Amino acid sequence: MASAGLTSRRKADEWIKAGRVKVNGQMVNELGARAIWGVDRIEVDCEGIPKPSARLYLLLNKPFGYMCTLKDPQGRPLVTDLLRDIPQRVYPVGRLDFDTLGLLLLTNDGEWAYRMMHPRYQVPRTYKVTVTGEITDEAIRLLKKGVQLKDGPTGRSKPTVISRNPRQSILRITITQGKSRQVRRMLDTVGYDTVHLIRTGFGNLTLGDLKVGEYRHIETEEVVSLKKMVGMV
Ligand code: URA
Repeated sequence: MASAGLTSRRKADEWIKAGRVKVNGQMVNELGARAIWGVDRIEVDCEGIPKPSARLYLLLNKPFGYMCTLKDPQGRPLVTDLLRDIPQRVYPVGRLDFDTLGLLLLTNDGEWAYRMMHPRYQVPRTYKVTVTGEITDEAIRLLKKGVQLKDGPTGRSKPTVISRNPRQSILRITITQGKSRQVRRMLDTVGYDTVHLIRTGFGNLTLGDLKVGEYRHIETEEVVSLKKMVGMV
């Protein structure tokens, strides 16, 4: 109710206690009862609350050479420059480096963005990474166990080798935190230089057929399942 702009959180609690709120036709008198805005029918004094049409959840296939910031002092292209017909101000959920490609989420839902990035929720992010040289089984073992970076340990990861030869190796790696340049730094720690990095998955989402530079709205069911992952539903 507060998110829909009807009242403050405190007043919303009072309305619930006063028996003025129904979810799917049932009166709610328990504070903290769960309902999904936009999915469940939420009524105050028998009137439906406005739909969350102002909430936007986008999945973009970020090209090389774009910044995930809202401004760049050097005037480089911004990921938000790629958005057309999106009047609301949205911002990236975390960052991909200038030279990283792939799956980037954008939203104007601050609580969701915060939780998706918070290490407590361990939302998996999957990358396809190309490194120079032939990666050893020992390096894979270290990546699995997690490595020590200068800003702390990374926690375990799930690396799998897609191909390797003395010139280069291609891996898929899933991590559950989003430290700055984490994948590049993990590989660097075990002795390999990253030459290409693309994020292919985030939570239950994958890039699918989305072309580089294109974006799509995330479906309501996908948003609900992502919200479940971060304890919002
Ligand atoms: N890890 C990196 O090193 N870079 C990114 O852009 C994302 C994850």
